[in-house]
Amino acid sequence: MRRRAWIALAAVMLLMCLHPSMSVAVERAEAEETARLLAKLLESGRAVIERNQSLIDDPHKGEKGFTPELFEQQLIREFHAKTGIDLNALPAAPVSMLIPPLAKELLPALVQASREVVRDAQVVINQRGIGYKNFIPATYGSQASARFSKAAHVRLKQTTIQPRNPKNEPDEYEASVLKWLSARPRAEAYVSELTDGGRTLRVVMPIYYAKDCLACHGEPKGDLDISGYPKEGHHEGDLAGAITVTAPLGNR
Ligand code: HEC
Repeated sequence: MRRRAWIALAAVMLLMCLHPSMSVAVERAEAEETARLLAKLLESGRAVIERNQSLIDDPHKGEKGFTPELFEQQLIREFHAKTGIDLNALPAAPVSMLIPPLAKELLPALVQASREVVRDAQVVINQRGIGYKNFIPATYGSQASARFSKAAHVRLKQTTIQPRNPKNEPDEYEASVLKWLSARPRAEAYVSELTDGGRTLRVVMPIYYAKDCLACHGEPKGDLDISGYPKEGHHEGDLAGAITVTAPLGNR
């Protein structure tokens, strides 16, 4: 099995040498798979925060024990359940087509950024006497994406048309894809395109509202939610926004 993978890899490398356009195709495939995995990892982090929300918002408890270490363990477990990839085993994993080298470099960087977000929120999380602390999946997602994107050459973002957080404002490309997605029935897949004459890969993964989201994003439209923002009046299944990845090709 392993031998066959090597032969396949060797064949691809040979083709890449013979045919320059093949190498672009392989690079695009690698960047696309990496983008998909980064989005899954951010989604996993959002799910872990959501699962611990009532602990985080418990006004009677000071020290919550929701440490960066515990968060990281739960994040790695959640990502493993979603993708079958064990991030603890990543450094030793052989280079294969399943986990591209770019992903091997960037997934640990996103784990690190995520962990730092939870570390920096410890004072807030461990505050006694306050219920809602505004440390929710969306704030985690915005902060972890921003921190990761500052350190990496790949940009990760959560965005939507008319975002609550102005930092999540879609760029022109993201806005056009979001508009296109919102006019279509729910799609699990993602949109991926080369822009800048083939130099930049854009990947947009849609997120849809579930019932739990509607306490803040649902009806009645205009009423303030617990975080102090006016509710948007959305319904279950509506497009909530997207996780997007912007990756430069060919100049790593
Ligand atoms: C406790 C209230 C609350 C709940 C529940 C909630 N959100 Fe949000 N959401 C917010 C807040 C507050 C922000 C702005 C976060 C920030 O400052 O970056 C936000 C931002 C977002 C964003 C980023 C774009 C923007 O508006 O800045 C998306 C996408 C999003 N939420 C989707 C969801 C989805 C999907 C769910 C359910 C799985 C959900 N939200 C549940 C309060 C909530």
